[in-house]
Amino acid sequence: GGDAVARLVADRVLDVPDFPQAGVVFKDLSPLFADGESFRGVIDGILEHYGRGSFDVVAGIEARGFVIAAALAYAAGVGVVPVRKAGKLPREVLSASYELEYGEAVLEVHADAFVANQRVLVVDDVLATGGTAEATLGLVERAGGTVVGFTVLLELAFLGGRKRLAGRPVHALLTV
Ligand code: PRP
Repeated sequence: GGDAVARLVADRVLDVPDFPQAGVVFKDLSPLFADGESFRGVIDGILEHYGRGSFDVVAGIEARGFVIAAALAYAAGVGVVPVRKAGKLPREVLSASYELEYGEAVLEVHADAFVANQRVLVVDDVLATGGTAEATLGLVERAGGTVVGFTVLLELAFLGGRKRLAGRPVHALLTV
């Protein structure tokens, strides 16, 4: 159930103070990804939450979102679309700039990444301020996709991401 899945995340997240800059506590989920049973557990937990057949494609946000997106898409039998940092995608893109907890950045998706009204599940590792997610959900919609959900392994509630995404279908395996 949900509590057991939340525990998988809680047990294998490391707090790294002052990374990537002073004052930021980085949530490092690499121990979770590195443990086979935990990794499978969180992927299965996401699939169970949404239900097989409820989305047509998974969009993953660079870079840690890719790890989750690929595994989830494979488990669900659907494809995966990368949402990338600026300058990485080779063909025509849609772009969105956004502010991060630390700095500013641009995300891009191929303009033809989605079939019209394709149901898209967007995934990332962490929801912090919500800037990354807000930019990504906008990109998916501009590219013609229908966002059926945005899911993360870990939500940092004190940074207000869920408020920023008000009206969006946000799901977190663990909220702290
Ligand atoms: C981190 C994290 C999310 C985002 C969350 O990515 O993986 O994508 O920040 O922050 P927000 O809710 O405040 O926008 P990061 O920008 O560090 O990119 P990386 O995964 O490529 O290192």
